[in-house]
Amino acid sequence: MRLNIAIDGPVGAGKSSIADAAAARLGILHLDTGAMYRALGLKTLREGVDPAQEDAVVSLCQGLNLAVQVGEKGQRTLLDGEDVSSQIRTPEVSMAASTVSRYAQVRKHMVALQQQLAAAQDMIVDGRDICTTVLPQAPLKIYLTASSEERARRRWKEMQEKGEPDTFEEVLAQVIARDEQDMHRPVEPLRQAEDATLLDSTNLTFDQVVDQIVKMAEAVRNGD
Ligand code: DC
Repeated sequence: MRLNIAIDGPVGAGKSSIADAAAARLGILHLDTGAMYRALGLKTLREGVDPAQEDAVVSLCQGLNLAVQVGEKGQRTLLDGEDVSSQIRTPEVSMAASTVSRYAQVRKHMVALQQQLAAAQDMIVDGRDICTTVLPQAPLKIYLTASSEERARRRWKEMQEKGEPDTFEEVLAQVIARDEQDMHRPVEPLRQAEDATLLDSTNLTFDQVVDQIVKMAEAVRNGD
């Protein structure tokens, strides 16, 4: 069986960096699905389209020239042939990604692409609907979360290190706004799948979380 590991969770739970580290230890790849919605968010902003305009966003999505290259050295996200891996990390693109991800037609397009990628390789796939929709048959499904204050604190610390000026209160407000939008959208909202293992990292270190995931994955791999 394919070793597909599905990880869902809210913004700032550390899904991406934790999935990266766990995938490296397991010798498998990591697909960050948020980057795909971010690429569409960036395209929308570049084209001067309001992310709240569903029809216009869906039509951009249908013609989207998006390629995701997943390798041992990480993921490259290509939009119209350009590597936009760092341009998709701004707060504006984060919010645009969250908005465009509300649309059913957009999700259908992205989910199909993600299923294709996961069917071809053993990989950890992280996002918001991976356990519930993209890979409901994955042999290991995890819901990774932490309190909103802890998630905002981690994000704020990262931003401080990069010299970005946002205050903790601003970052906390962004986390809460995105949670609200991701958890309450009508199509495939973020929620814990019934058969997903809850992993609350509020009081755990990064390494402790990675260890737990690797342990669970090895148990699956060994058929325990
Ligand atoms: O994980 P991220 O912060 O890079 O994701 C950006 C946005 O994309 C997030 O606010 C919600 C959306 N998203 C989604 O709806 N489904 C996914 N599988 C991944 C991300």
